[in-house]
Amino acid sequence: MLHRIKNRAAYQVASVRRSLGFPPYHELNIPFGAVESIVRSTGAEPWFVWAIQNRRTRGETNSAMDWIVEHIAKDKLIFEVGCGCGANLIWLAQRGYHNLVGTDRSSAAISAATQLADLAQQTISVHVADGFVPPEKLIGVGKIAVLLAIDCIYLAQFDLIQHLRLWRDRLAPGGCVIFDMVDQSFDRFPNNQYMTDDWGLPEEKRRSTQYVTRISPDELKRKAAKTGFEMIGKLPGTEVPPRYVAVLQRVD
Ligand SMILES: C[S@@+](CC[C@H](N)C(=O)[O-])C[C@H]1O[C@@H](n2cnc3c(N)ncnc32)[C@H](O)[C@@H]1O
Repeated sequence: MLHRIKNRAAYQVASVRRSLGFPPYHELNIPFGAVESIVRSTGAEPWFVWAIQNRRTRGETNSAMDWIVEHIAKDKLIFEVGCGCGANLIWLAQRGYHNLVGTDRSSAAISAATQLADLAQQTISVHVADGFVPPEKLIGVGKIAVLLAIDCIYLAQFDLIQHLRLWRDRLAPGGCVIFDMVDQSFDRFPNNQYMTDDWGLPEEKRRSTQYVTRISPDELKRKAAKTGFEMIGKLPGTEVPPRYVAVLQRVD
């Protein structure tokens, strides 16, 4: 009950701040009214509208953004795989970062990202590419200061060791990869085998879970050490599913 009252109050404060032109810190400074029509006209996933309008509540994104702002200089190359509609890159651009590149396998998402960046009057470079390894032809090797993968790698089977090896090659010395991961402890939650949005439906109508790959922080740390990384951060993500944000630094 108290939680719901707090949420409603936070929502109202956010609306007032937005109407005055001072959106909450973790939100995009962008006319919200235009977001839905851009997402709809490009055919991108409707989820992006929710993700932009509720951005301040996305624990995994907020943690990753805060870490970058605290540790990374504005001129460094930040590359986001699975960048979707570009909201993370646009947010970083609005904080003064100006070397921002992203890829996504969905051409509709990339088209939405291009239009949303224009709407926000920010410059980002986004491209259609399948997979979670930055294509060598886009940026070469050994150049990326931060490789971001938010809310994407656990949505299917994912070979972390293989990706860590390939990611390491793309990073500049001392560079970091930041991604969120669903903790293996989710296996013990009732209904974890079903999509979280469907938990309220009769069992026969529920779809399979979207959180396919799950790795505990200890296992992740071991895999990082094996592939030339040190886990220098384990940041808060969400409670349901139990999700943390890992910051792994390339060790040379
Ligand atoms: C839930 S969205 C997250 C978008 C963005 N990272 C964010 O935090 O708002 C997941 C994105 O991953 C992309 N994606 C999923 N599988 C992919 C793959 N194999 N290669 C590239 N992108 C992929 C989807 O197209 C989608 O845009």
